Amino acid sequence: MNYFLYKNNQLHCEEVAIQEIAAQVGTPFYLYSKATLRRHFQAFDSAFTAPHITCFAAKSCSNIAILNLFSSLGGGADIVSGGELFRALTAGVDPQKIVYSGVGKSRDELKYGLESGILMFNVESEQELDALQEVAASLGVQAPVSFRVNPDVDPQTHAYISTGLAKNKFGIPIADAPAAYQRAAAMANIEVKGVSCHIGSQLTQVSPFVESLAKVKKFIHRLHKSGCPIKYLDLGGGLGITYDDEEPPAPLDYARALEAELGDLGCTLILEPGRVIVGNAGILVTKVLYTKQGGKKFTIVDAGMNDLARPSLYGAHHTILPVEERGQGREMGDVVGPICETGDFLARDKEVPLSRQNDLLAVMSAGAYGFSMASNYNSRPRVAEVLVDGAKFHVIRRRETLESLIAGEMIP
Ligand code: LLP
Repeated sequence: MNYFLYKNNQLHCEEVAIQEIAAQVGTPFYLYSKATLRRHFQAFDSAFTAPHITCFAAKSCSNIAILNLFSSLGGGADIVSGGELFRALTAGVDPQKIVYSGVGKSRDELKYGLESGILMFNVESEQELDALQEVAASLGVQAPVSFRVNPDVDPQTHAYISTGLAKNKFGIPIADAPAAYQRAAAMANIEVKGVSCHIGSQLTQVSPFVESLAKVKKFIHRLHKSGCPIKYLDLGGGLGITYDDEEPPAPLDYARALEAELGDLGCTLILEPGRVIVGNAGILVTKVLYTKQGGKKFTIVDAGMNDLARPSLYGAHHTILPVEERGQGREMGDVVGPICETGDFLARDKEVPLSRQNDLLAVMSAGAYGFSMASNYNSRPRVAEVLVDGAKFHVIRRRETLESLIAGEMIP
């Protein structure tokens, strides 16, 4: 359920006509609905009855206004870089609700995490553990640690966003984990706190989650028996959304399936949802520059693959709707951007709105991995981000300027 709806044939976000925002902010821009963000966060968070912390995956949508909203609703953050830690802290996220994942944390990043007093580091290799022990010793502190274990479970999703298979770079093989925990337990500046696991993104079935939890649960029982207490079980993120005709489980079904498998393990759960909360709470609004009939029909818009990489990168589907519905109908064709690459498309060989110059189009389901993956390729300033709250809207990130494109560059 989201709050992007037509009223009088005009697409609105909550109470605000998108056309009005475009007139004031210009195009393209990302647009988020606060009521939708709140609703999705609460639907997810309240689906779990076991003690838990919902640590929003900052990588999916990292604007500080949005991190601040989730923090005000009791959420934490799952971060994967010093940059995301900086954003989360600036947004007011409680450090004791921040978990730090990622295969390549630098020593500077480990130090920043330790100095900030985060809840735990999800360590992904033995060498990272050694580095963390060294950095923690140099600071004279204890580093809270969980190992990210790789359960070798197929999440049945796009190959680029599958992370829980043995052939993926993530985590340590679950078979090697007992030895890793034994080593960690003996280290002076390491405090073992948890076990973590994240098998992939945009999963549309619960079975891979349950399969991986079953393996992790067995492992935690084994750790408990060997006298290694585990306080936190981090189940990662990954629950999918509907972009087209996918039918992913609702958060409640996901939570019930996981809690049924979990039983009474006595751990606090950590969840790292990203897409399921923000994906359908945000859209990309773009304007038609030109249309032309080449070998097929092209609708050329002012947003490109630098603004929304998902169609080009993963062949992902994003439904495109007209902001003004005047019965124009739809046609087969491509919606393409201004970037000088054939791979620059927002829709390819899809039913798209029959448009004319200056029409506004809404690229739906763009709230997750939209702006956060945007780049300046082709020297295009990154677009504005706008948050609607009822009848009001707020620019939560200004459109970049030409000057910002060369900030930091110099001619020697
Ligand atoms: N936790 C960890 C450790 C992760 O690596 C990820 C996503 C998440 C949580 C959040 O997963 P979610 O709930 O959003 O599925 N750029 C791709 C998605 C990459 C996902 C990376 N990791 C896309 O646009 O589909």
